[in-house]
Amino acid sequence: MGDPACSSAETLRVALIDARGVEMELLEGLDERQMLGTKAHFLEPPIWEMGHVGWFQELWILRHLDGQSSLLPGSDAMYDSFNVSYKRRWDHRYPSRRVTCEYVSEILRRTVGRLESREPTPEETYFYTLAALHEDMHTENLTLIRQTLGYPRPQLTRVGPRATWPPIDLTYQPHDVVVPGGTFLLGAAREEPFVFDNEKWAHAVEVAPFAIASTPVTNAEYQAFVNDDGYRRRKLWSHRGWDWRRREGAEHPLFWVRDGASWAERQFDTVVPLDPWHPVVHVNWYEAEAYCRWAGRRLPTEAEWETAAAFDPATGRKCRFPWGDDAPTAERASLDFRAGGTIDVRALPAGDSPLGCRQMIGNVWEWVDDTFEPYPEFVCDPYREYSQPYFGQKKVLRGGCWTTRSRLIRATWRNFYMRHRRNIFSGFRTVGHGGS
Ligand SMILES: [Fe+2]
Repeated sequence: MGDPACSSAETLRVALIDARGVEMELLEGLDERQMLGTKAHFLEPPIWEMGHVGWFQELWILRHLDGQSSLLPGSDAMYDSFNVSYKRRWDHRYPSRRVTCEYVSEILRRTVGRLESREPTPEETYFYTLAALHEDMHTENLTLIRQTLGYPRPQLTRVGPRATWPPIDLTYQPHDVVVPGGTFLLGAAREEPFVFDNEKWAHAVEVAPFAIASTPVTNAEYQAFVNDDGYRRRKLWSHRGWDWRRREGAEHPLFWVRDGASWAERQFDTVVPLDPWHPVVHVNWYEAEAYCRWAGRRLPTEAEWETAAAFDPATGRKCRFPWGDDAPTAERASLDFRAGGTIDVRALPAGDSPLGCRQMIGNVWEWVDDTFEPYPEFVCDPYREYSQPYFGQKKVLRGGCWTTRSRLIRATWRNFYMRHRRNIFSGFRTVGHGGS
């Protein structure tokens, strides 16, 4: 879980309770119909989300560690995300909101009680951490469900005053950062107290010189591509990308709305003008690929991204974050729902990487070129369905977004989605061709 202090029982207790608090805030205000959602691929019913996070906690803490049976008979058939396909998520008669809430609350009560009763062993710490971080991932999922279905913007107590934060450096000019080639380390250091299996372990990779954009692609930049008929020019798209575009009839990013001669975007249930300095978000890997071809650029590789984000040429070592090894703060990264949405790409200079890239952590996830593959020393963790089934299938995203929790993210974190997914909080940054 990043911070070594996270292994203390108190930090774990706080994380478990905090993750559940956000989950419940995100479900607040949804009526019974909204709790069921809309049947669509990759869109969970919110009532399922509520039950699933408790089920997962029960599975690993109370059932796996203690050998208990589920408090809710039949829970595996409903909430096991790996063995119950998306197509069947709407086939169940879910317990009522009240019953589901009681089920997951009782599991949290028992989990926290267990944690308070004795200092956790390393094995127990692993599973407490896993349960908290899994719930953090699902709060992001719930947020994108609300966005996709056009539900009201969630009223989150942690959203800061948008008028004063973040300070924006209006003089900042996005530019390319030139990175000399060399041998870099890709992956997590062995001192990390908790990492997922797909980050293990740091290994040497050769990286040729490259030049990467200091900021993610903005709405203004992407709009130039859209307005230049980018979605209709076959040559800009790969074969698979064009197939996707035609099948979907995609003409612009998922939530963009034409507003006369310009563009607006739907944020939750409200259409707002497109902010030119915010990063483009909710684009898939194919759209990123086509934009790059139009711009005469390309997506960074994972090794390039991680080097640009965390390598310090002054010390020759890689830090946990762009700004060093200390935990994220509001001055360094837009995380933890603080902004309530994306922010200006020129903001948060204190979070710059030593090489000079901005916002590599937070704001929007960034697609990279690589297909998700195991690192050389990969060994499957107990949560076997997390990474392994998706190797060779999905594309990698890096850096976290505005809904990502700071206790979850670090420079080596690998997220992964199918390349056609675009209701996620995904943007990208680009690399120039030719290493300059
Ligand atoms: Fe899950």
